[in-house]
Amino acid sequence: MLQTAKNYEQSSDFAWNEGLSQANALEIYRALSVGIEIQQSPELGQLVRASDSCTPIQRWFQYREGYTLELCNRIFRSDESLVVDPFCGFGSTLVAARRRGFASVGIDANPLAAFVAKVKTRNYTRRTLDDIEVQIGALARIRSGVRAEVPLLRIIEKVFHPEILDALLCLQSRILSFDNDKVRDFLLLGWIAILEDVSNVFREGNGIKYRNRIRNGNSYTVSPYEQWAAMRFPEDKFQFVKRKLVDQLKLMLEDIRAEKRSGAEPLVKHGDAEDLRDLVPSQGASLALFSPPYCNCFNYIKAYKVELWMSGFIRTYADIGKLTALGIRSRVESVLSPVVDPYPEEIDSLIGLMDPFGLWSAQLPEVIKGYFADMRSRLATVYSILKPNGRCAIVVGNSAYAGVIIPSDLLLARTAETVGFKIEKIEVCRHLTTSSQQRRRLLPVKEYMRESVIHLVRC
Ligand SMILES: C[S@@+](CC[C@H](N)C(=O)[O-])C[C@H]1O[C@@H](n2cnc3c(N)ncnc32)[C@H](O)[C@@H]1O
Repeated sequence: MLQTAKNYEQSSDFAWNEGLSQANALEIYRALSVGIEIQQSPELGQLVRASDSCTPIQRWFQYREGYTLELCNRIFRSDESLVVDPFCGFGSTLVAARRRGFASVGIDANPLAAFVAKVKTRNYTRRTLDDIEVQIGALARIRSGVRAEVPLLRIIEKVFHPEILDALLCLQSRILSFDNDKVRDFLLLGWIAILEDVSNVFREGNGIKYRNRIRNGNSYTVSPYEQWAAMRFPEDKFQFVKRKLVDQLKLMLEDIRAEKRSGAEPLVKHGDAEDLRDLVPSQGASLALFSPPYCNCFNYIKAYKVELWMSGFIRTYADIGKLTALGIRSRVESVLSPVVDPYPEEIDSLIGLMDPFGLWSAQLPEVIKGYFADMRSRLATVYSILKPNGRCAIVVGNSAYAGVIIPSDLLLARTAETVGFKIEKIEVCRHLTTSSQQRRRLLPVKEYMRESVIHLVRC
């Protein structure tokens, strides 16, 4: 790991100097970059973000944190023997591998993500598809019935209009009664996929926002709920929800009938990336292609909490803590104690350069350290399951805290080196934006605020 020449620790008479801080940060970024081929690849800019929302199969569930099938295709070689994705999210790598006939294994700490990835990539016989079609017809004819249990999510009444919640629970109860797990899971995914659309909320940033609260500059205008709901939802709410579900399921069925699949069904599990060691033989994979959480405090559990509660992956508030503990320490909720495992030493220097009054949580330094410590152990796992000369491609975005950029692409590449990888190159795909205040501060180092693909080779 590179040494930085200066001691950037704050002294007692420290007064934060923006210019000096950026000059010192730049020196660290340059030192980290020495000997790495940094290639500008703007043509990948659209491919590292979820711009696949109209692509068959990918459109089954709107997921903003994924990348495209096209990106995977550019990274695959013609003869991949086994592709692994230790942070498989909603399954882009696995869907792309499936289409090319490559065996693949995926794992994700979010049970909803693992479920969606599995349903998107599993095998369906013609008979199963015919069964699904029959059940879609049966769902279309439902008028009433037994309701599934109301989830214990405290805000549930604010998230759904009562008649819409009633319709959803009635349809869910019918779906859960199907014995054939492939039919049931397919229908359940369609049901999960419409939840946001029929709710009073939408996902934004790191959580959910109420649709009847409209942002007006720095304040909100709140429409009276009943008035807003009358404009948004038709009179017959049951019919409305049922129509959405049936349309969604028909689209999914159309995609799966049209898809030409070859090769084995991917193995998809809910769990920690570390568990890959139990799923893949040592030196068994030819390619690891993934995008880990970014070091930006995005909380995947919070962002998908409505879907997680509604589908039963979360049943109690204690479950949230358990799921959070499983993820990479990339957010304040996941850092419960000081980080003691190894992380790149440049992190301490960069933290020392931050505006001491600019951190929105005192936990952030530990979040950053924890993120890189966790990623180091996951990279070691990936290394162990790759064949000699096996490749690893990591899509990651850099982040900024208190006026200092954390260059995750360079830091992860250097961390990968410490577990045995050779750095082939870093492809810079696009530049990332920040708040206007940060943007002004980061002007001298803005080229490091970017999203990249790190290419590594197992020696
Ligand atoms: C950027 S997303 C991956 C998106 C994916 N490439 C796609 O296109 O759908 C990162 C994923 O890492 C998962 N994750 C976080 N910590 C994890 C861990 N320790 N092990 C496995 N997955 C984890 C999150 O739940 C999230 O789904």
